[in-house]
Amino acid sequence: MAIWNLGSINIDHVYRMQSLPRPGETLAALDFSMGLGGKGANQSIATARAGAVTHHLGALGTTDDWVVERLAAAGVGTDHIARLADQVTGHAIILVDADAENAIVIHPGANRAIDEDALAGTLATIDHGDTLLIQNETNGQVAAAQAAQSRGARVVYSAAPFDLDAVRAILPHVSILAVNAGEAEQLFAGIHGDLPVQGLLITKGAEGAEYRDLHTDQTCRQLSFKVEPVDTTGAGDTFAGFFAAALDEGQDVAKALRLASAAAALQVTRPGAGDAIPSRAEVEAFLADQPI
Ligand code: RIB
Repeated sequence: MAIWNLGSINIDHVYRMQSLPRPGETLAALDFSMGLGGKGANQSIATARAGAVTHHLGALGTTDDWVVERLAAAGVGTDHIARLADQVTGHAIILVDADAENAIVIHPGANRAIDEDALAGTLATIDHGDTLLIQNETNGQVAAAQAAQSRGARVVYSAAPFDLDAVRAILPHVSILAVNAGEAEQLFAGIHGDLPVQGLLITKGAEGAEYRDLHTDQTCRQLSFKVEPVDTTGAGDTFAGFFAAALDEGQDVAKALRLASAAAALQVTRPGAGDAIPSRAEVEAFLADQPI
């Protein structure tokens, strides 16, 4: 099967800080670097590095060829990434503090100017049993989810950055909703009653993760692996990507959670977002060293 990902592509500008600035405060960064990011691009790199056939659906400006080259080098199919002459490539300003926590501002640029007709044409070819990944940093999410659902594909939606109206609109077309602990709080504060999805994936950082099958009412939990994090940017994307790739290859939920948790644990030990995502071989080697 294949994974299709309607997702953002950002150039991440990462500033390493002793602490995050308070309102009105000016602080000098300890270090600066640039790398590949965007929740979508990160998830595509994760699914490809996990071993899934991955097609990224997105857009960027006409410069920044290195971004597409780096996605391709990670094994991501880039044929459906448009180059838009009137848009800049999306970018993110990311501050990372001494505890590896971050604060992020994004400028969407081309990510919010994706041609929805072209998208519909591509998704008309998605196969029953394929998976569509979606996050909240592009346009076109609802129509894409609807198209994939109507063709029998699994739709995995990461509600990040969290936007309650966007969640409400897309939820009827989603198979698996993925949120972190903070997003889960906002979700349950805003939507009461049953969620119209098959599964709810909640990642909780160092507290582990859980998958609730809302059809059978069963919950599967995974503890997090103990590591020394240096940068947690993109950990949720890594988790979601490896989880989706494991389901795509037919693993059960428990195995998918364990694989995704190990991938995210390794990813946070490295600086950066997309560039820090481990390969499947690295994740398997890490798991081989862990107690069952
Ligand atoms: O989830 C992390 C990502 O969020 C970063 O790579 C940044 O680009 C923003 O999209």
